[in-house]
Amino acid sequence: MDTFDWKNLSFGYVKTDYNVRTYHRNGQWGELEISSSEYINLHIAATCLHYGQEAFEGLKAFKGKDNKIRVFRSDSNAKRMFDTAEGIEMASVPGDLFKKAVHKAVSLNTKYIPPYGHGASLYIRPLLIGSGAEVGVKPAKEYLFIVFVTPVGTYFKDGFKPVDIMVCRGFDRAAPLGTGCYKVGGNYAASLASLELAHHKGFSTALYLDPKEKKYIDEAGPANFFGIRDNTYITPESKSILPSITNMSLQQLAKDMGMKVERRPVLFEELSSFEEVGACGTAAVITPIRKIVDPDTNKIYEFCCDGKPGPVSTRLYNKLMAIQNGDESDPYGWVEFVD
Ligand code: PLP
Ligand code: COI
Repeated sequence: MDTFDWKNLSFGYVKTDYNVRTYHRNGQWGELEISSSEYINLHIAATCLHYGQEAFEGLKAFKGKDNKIRVFRSDSNAKRMFDTAEGIEMASVPGDLFKKAVHKAVSLNTKYIPPYGHGASLYIRPLLIGSGAEVGVKPAKEYLFIVFVTPVGTYFKDGFKPVDIMVCRGFDRAAPLGTGCYKVGGNYAASLASLELAHHKGFSTALYLDPKEKKYIDEAGPANFFGIRDNTYITPESKSILPSITNMSLQQLAKDMGMKVERRPVLFEELSSFEEVGACGTAAVITPIRKIVDPDTNKIYEFCCDGKPGPVSTRLYNKLMAIQNGDESDPYGWVEFVD
């Protein structure tokens, strides 16, 4: 891998050597198997294909200056996948199996972990699907859990550079009491048309408002939203957004920096009062937002600072990256070492 162009990695799929898999059959999980195939053999009536019994996770591993491999907060992803599985009636993956599978998939593919200092990482994608055959609308009796990995660069192509996004009122990615708080494929299918529309119009992503009243801010594409005002980190609380592990981490880091943190419904009208706004997530890390365009009202909301990331977003970004890379201490035990 010495000749690999780590600096120009995009957020895409690169083949690695191995993935790990296990089936849930007759009420229990089997042994974790190592596979070198990128394919699965699936029944044509598997519930994941017909009734959307599909969940996934996203987390990252980093190589430090000390060459140690660090996985960020896999226990939180395990918990979220557990909740998601219960939410759509799938067999849930116990936390210790989830962690074992994640660590195994990383340790089998260490040569694909980008070296320190390239702004890249190893993206880890746990996947849980209903593999059992059903034709009636009901949960499968068999499930497949896979973890694969792939080296990635930043999600938005310019990395830590402000992007422009577009309000999409004509679409909802999730229903008010639907599956927005779970990481299921159906939410992403529901978001594709609006994301394509936003991209087609030259925007990086779509800003979704709450699906019930369209009064509050929900999420920014595949990432949570935050705003900074008067030394306060403000982020939406909503039943239709995914509880972001990055966002929870940033809320803690903001508190440590002496900021106030508010997690509450955020009125769309408040946008004009924010000094800085950003999108945050595993893939997006922090992506500062320069401009939010609202095509329905022709309003444009602009934020700090002349196309550069704002000072608070920059401090939060640097702190998070420093913990993930091992450059700074990890007071909350977020980092797990992989042998
Ligand atoms: N919101 C959505 C819809 C996402 O797809 C993601 C990505 O996982 C996030 C938020 C951010 O969550 P996390 O920080 O746990 O990656
Ligand atoms: C993540 O940030 O891990 C995501 O899942 C976002 C997207 C690639 C779906």
